[in-house]
Amino acid sequence: MNYEAALSTAIQRLHDEGRYRTFIDIERTRGQFPDAVWNRPDGGKAPVTVWCGNDYLGMGQHPVVLNAMHEALDATGAGSGGTRNISGTTVYHKALEAELADLHRKEAALLFTSAYIANDATLSTLPKLFPGLIIYSDALNHASMIEGVRRNGGQKRIFRHNDVAHLRELLEADDADAPKLIAFESIYSMDGDFGPIEAFCDLALEFNALTYIDEVHAVGMYGPRGAGVAERDGLMGRIDIINGTLAKAYGVMGGYIAASDRMCDAVRSYAPGFIFTTSLPPAIAAGAAASVRHLKTDQALRDSQQTQAKILKLRLKGLGLPIIDHGSHIVPLMVGDPKHTKMMSDMLLEQFGIYVQPINFPTVPRGTERLRFTPSPVHGPREMDRLVAALDNLWAHCALNRAEMAG
Ligand SMILES: Cc1ncc(COP(=O)(O)O)c(C=O)c1O
Repeated sequence: MNYEAALSTAIQRLHDEGRYRTFIDIERTRGQFPDAVWNRPDGGKAPVTVWCGNDYLGMGQHPVVLNAMHEALDATGAGSGGTRNISGTTVYHKALEAELADLHRKEAALLFTSAYIANDATLSTLPKLFPGLIIYSDALNHASMIEGVRRNGGQKRIFRHNDVAHLRELLEADDADAPKLIAFESIYSMDGDFGPIEAFCDLALEFNALTYIDEVHAVGMYGPRGAGVAERDGLMGRIDIINGTLAKAYGVMGGYIAASDRMCDAVRSYAPGFIFTTSLPPAIAAGAAASVRHLKTDQALRDSQQTQAKILKLRLKGLGLPIIDHGSHIVPLMVGDPKHTKMMSDMLLEQFGIYVQPINFPTVPRGTERLRFTPSPVHGPREMDRLVAALDNLWAHCALNRAEMAG
């Protein structure tokens, strides 16, 4: 085989479909979020405002987080030096797990290097713990859940996105005695819509199934202590396994599950993705713990993010731009074509100093390509005005429709 030619063909296919990904090289500047510097491909530098980051609350530059990281770094050095089993468990890891268990009012929490790994490792391990397990997985679940469910050697059923009736049908069709798990997200990050958590919990109760929720796009931001949508809705106690990230609203890195003592102990003992990898650096664990602790009480920051999202949505709707609005903090602007989406993103960057990454297949279905904005407390009125004016201008320039999509 001509390996180089095969690689070129694969890459060319992406170019032809307009979904070849180019990474924008930016330098974020502490204290100046969301402003950053773009290192242009021609070697120049240009100021940009980041509108597509998932550091949803600006915690990546919060003094509480940075101080904790500096202290831990000075106290313990850079890396953890080992897997959790072999010298890589420190007071920082233990403290973070305790903070997360408390956050979710669970007996325990288990730390992973990312929420991707937490999903993949946990979901692929559960069939070892519950032989014959059937996993019912929402059709729009994140790639990390899909990978975990696919690799488990167990059975899977995919229900239509957020479709409670379809899930019921699938549950009814299976052996009543088979162990079951329902896996879903609280907020789907590309549309910003919410999962019907209560209805899924009711089905789980009726069919004696476990519940698994990914709250990656909700932790820190929803609920009175930032534990997520399940907390906001008073449903946290009905979820068996909660998955979250420390890399988005918490502004650092890492992922976790929170569950019963026994569940965490079993996953800890059986999941290769937990066992055979170096643990997070202590400074990361310290920063994440400080962030989680801080956001248990900083309701003002949460409120400010919601206000920013509402303002942006109102203003874009006022211009007749086709945004999706499910009442969450995510603002998707539908373009519906990969080439147009990329072109708009390029023009925003080049002409207006606005950085928003185009979102294409396979992250979203073909024909629903979009620009996804993430307004946050660090985006001020000046940034908002510039964004709205730029979009108005570009929409006219590209002669795109202004009919509003249903939310
Ligand atoms: C729904 C969902 N789950 C899990 C992840 C993975 O999180 P992490 O970045 O911590 O790996 C992401 C995105 O990155 C996500 O969108």
